[in-house]
Amino acid sequence: MFFRSKALEEAHRELQDREQLLRALSNRMAEERQDERLQIAAFLHDDLAQHLFRLSIQVDVARRHLAAGKLDETELSLEEIKETKNRTSDRIRALIRDLHRSPLGRAGLAEALHSFIAETARDSDVRVHTDIDELPLPPPIALLLYHIAREGVMNALKHAQAQNVWVTVKPVDDEVKLVLRDDGIGFDTADSAPEGHYGLTMMRERALVAGGTIEMRSAPGQGTTITVQIPTSWLAPEGQERTAAHPVAPQAGASPGTAPSHPGPSAESVLA
Ligand SMILES: Nc1ncnc2c1ncn2[C@@H]1O[C@H](COP(=O)(O)OP(=O)(O)OP(=O)(O)O)[C@@H](O)[C@H]1O
Ligand SMILES: [Mg+2]
Repeated sequence: MFFRSKALEEAHRELQDREQLLRALSNRMAEERQDERLQIAAFLHDDLAQHLFRLSIQVDVARRHLAAGKLDETELSLEEIKETKNRTSDRIRALIRDLHRSPLGRAGLAEALHSFIAETARDSDVRVHTDIDELPLPPPIALLLYHIAREGVMNALKHAQAQNVWVTVKPVDDEVKLVLRDDGIGFDTADSAPEGHYGLTMMRERALVAGGTIEMRSAPGQGTTITVQIPTSWLAPEGQERTAAHPVAPQAGASPGTAPSHPGPSAESVLA
């Protein structure tokens, strides 16, 4: 009897943890959607509205030239109007392209990370080495990992003065493990980030919100290693609970003895 109620209690607690995790994840996704809306609003306000305003001024000028019988000037104004219109169309097309291109798209985490890294490291002397498994991850987990990895790589390129950066994504039991390492100058992880800089904070928050763990190892002069482990089974579709992180060959890359991760502290308190 005692054991039964103990088991029930544990099952109940696990259910509550899962519920909390899902709520926090959906809050996080809603926030990200809201950010996107703000970006679109800013584009419409700052960019598009100014192009249209310029167009209306150019039309007025053309009209005045025409009324004064200055045909050459009118011709010039019409050219300018056409140019502004073309520039506006280009900006709108760019916005549409961005909106279509979710960071992950249909490609999945591995392809999205490879293309982000290729694009970002193109103009840099830093060598970025990747060993990223193609894993059938639940989309919210893939997106969180993408954002974490992106911030880590950006930090390494911006701050580390590194020669090499390594990015690996591997399955470990029913978790996915992301490791970001650089051989740069390192930093004191106990220091608080400069005012208004939230990259590391958001990396931590994203890992915890997904019920995972994050470890940052760095010391001045010794490079930086960030390890993130996120369980995939909680969000896997029914029937795939224990296999979500596994590629076709089960257990590939798994390291026995890895401590199971936990739902973390109250996922909601992390967001608060
Ligand atoms: N890989 C790294 N190597 C050396 N220093 C780092 C590394 N990652 C972070 N840092 C240090 O930690 C600080 C905080 O990083 P964080 O990502 O929070 O902010 P940021 O990159 O400065 O700004 P933001 O990410 O908001 O654009 C950085 O300013 C930098 O000094
Ligand atoms: Mg940063």
